[in-house]
Amino acid sequence: MSSQPTKMWSGRFREPLDRTFEQWQRSFPFDWRLIPQEVAASKAHAQTIAAAGILTPDELEKMLTGLDAVAQRPLNWAHRISATSGQVDYETSNSQVASAIVASAPQAEDIHHYVELELTREVGTLALKLHTGRSRNEQIATDMRLFVRDAIDATLSGLREWMLALIALAEANSDAVMPGYTHLQRAEPVLIPHWLLAYVSMLERDFSRFVDARNRMNFCPLGSGAIAGATLALDRSIAAKALGFTAPTPNSMDATSDRDFMLDFAQAASTLGIHISRFSEELTLYATAEFGFVDLPEAFSTGSSAMPQKKNPDLTELTRGKSARLLGSATALATLVKGLPLAYNKDLQEGQEQIFDIADTLAGLFSVLPNFTHKLTFRTARMQQAAESGYLNAMAAATYLSNKGLPFRKAHEVIGNAVRLGLDKGLELNALPIADLRELSDYFAADFFDAITLKATLDCHDVTGGTATHRVAEALTTAKTRVQSLQPSS
Ligand code: ARG
Repeated sequence: MSSQPTKMWSGRFREPLDRTFEQWQRSFPFDWRLIPQEVAASKAHAQTIAAAGILTPDELEKMLTGLDAVAQRPLNWAHRISATSGQVDYETSNSQVASAIVASAPQAEDIHHYVELELTREVGTLALKLHTGRSRNEQIATDMRLFVRDAIDATLSGLREWMLALIALAEANSDAVMPGYTHLQRAEPVLIPHWLLAYVSMLERDFSRFVDARNRMNFCPLGSGAIAGATLALDRSIAAKALGFTAPTPNSMDATSDRDFMLDFAQAASTLGIHISRFSEELTLYATAEFGFVDLPEAFSTGSSAMPQKKNPDLTELTRGKSARLLGSATALATLVKGLPLAYNKDLQEGQEQIFDIADTLAGLFSVLPNFTHKLTFRTARMQQAAESGYLNAMAAATYLSNKGLPFRKAHEVIGNAVRLGLDKGLELNALPIADLRELSDYFAADFFDAITLKATLDCHDVTGGTATHRVAEALTTAKTRVQSLQPSS
C-alpha cells in the first residue's frame, strides 16, 4: 500500500479541514462525470512526460493500463448494480452508478484526486509520478473542453436529426397551406413547408454556431501548469495531438482561467433554446380548439387527472420551459466569469454543473423532438379554410391592380375600400360583384378573380425565399441536400 496523503496538498498544513467545509467544497459528487475526460487527459499527459524521460516505457505501459482500468469504474458499477437488482431502467441505473461511485470514494476531493487515488490502487506509488509537470488548473480546463466538445458533437447530431424530421414533415405536407401571421393576426397564406423551413433556417444557424464554438475551443491547455506553464520542458504537441486538439493553447494564464468555450456553448444552447421555445409556443397555440390546426400525437400528450376530456400539450410546454434552464445557465456562467481576476479561481468550479445541466437538457430535448415531429399531423382542411378567409389575398389583389398600372399606394387604398365593402356585405373579395369593384376602380377586370385565388396568392411571391409553390419545392430540396450533408462532428 502507498503512503499517499489524504489530500493532494496537505504538506504545508498543520490543522485538518473543518469537516463541514471539507464536504461542502468537494466537487467529486458532481465532477465524477468527468472520469472519461480525466482519464483521457491523464493518458495524454503520461505520454508527454514519458517522452520527457520522467517515465520509462515500461512505467508508461503500466500507467496507461491502470488508467484504462480506472475508466472502467462506472461500467463496473453499472454491471454490479444490474446484477443485484435485475433489469434497471437507464435513468435509475445512471443515478445509482453516480451514488455508488461517489460513495466509493468519500475522501476524493475532486475528479483529479479520485483518478489519482484509484490509479494508486491499480499501479501503486507509480501513480504519484503522474502529477509531474501538471496542475489541476490545467486539468480541469482540459477536462471541461473535452466534455463540451463531446456535448457539441451530440448536439450537432441531435440538430441534424430534428431538421431531417422537420423536412420529412414538410415533404408530407408539400402543398398544404396555412395562414401566416404577423402581430398574431392572419396576414397572408403560406405553404406549411414554408413555415417549417423557417425553423430549419434557425436550426441551420444553430448548427453553425455550435461548429464555430467547437473550432474555436479546440486547443489543448495541458502543459500550462498552474498559471505560468509547466515546470518541465514538455513537448505539448504530444498531448494536444493525442486528444484530438488542433494545437496547444498559446498562453498559460489564459488557458487555465479561460471559460469562453463554456460561454460559447451555453450561448449557442440558449439561442437554440429560444428557437425550440418559439416552435413549442406555436404548436401549443395551434393545438388549441381555437386554432384547431394540429393534432398532437397521443403518444406525446397527457390527460388531466381532473377533467376527463383534456389532452394536454405537455411535450411542447416542457420544451418551451426547458429554454428557461438553458438561458439561466448561460446567465449564471457569464455572471460567474465576469469579475474574475486572472488566472484560476475556485469560483470556476461552480461552472461545471451549469455545463452538465445544459448538456443533459439538450440531450433530453433531442431525445423527444425528432419523434414528436415525425408524428405531428395537421388539420389541413381547416388550415386551408383559415387561409382562404379574412381577406388574406388583399396583398395579391393590390398587386393585381399595380400590375395593371395603378401606383401601389393607390392600389392599396382601393383594395382597402374593397375589403371595407366586403366586411359590410359579409363577403370575401372573390365574392364581390365585379360591378361593385369597378365602381371603386376602372382597373378591375374579369381576370381579377384569377389573380386572387389561393394558388395565385401564394404564387405571386415568386422570389428566392418566398412562398410561391415552385420556390418552396426548390427550397425544400436544397434544404434537404444541405442538411443531409451536414457533418455531425467536425
Ligand atoms: N475542482 C476544481 C475545479 O473544478 C479543480 C481545480 C482545482 N484547482 C485548485 N487550484 N484548487 O475548478
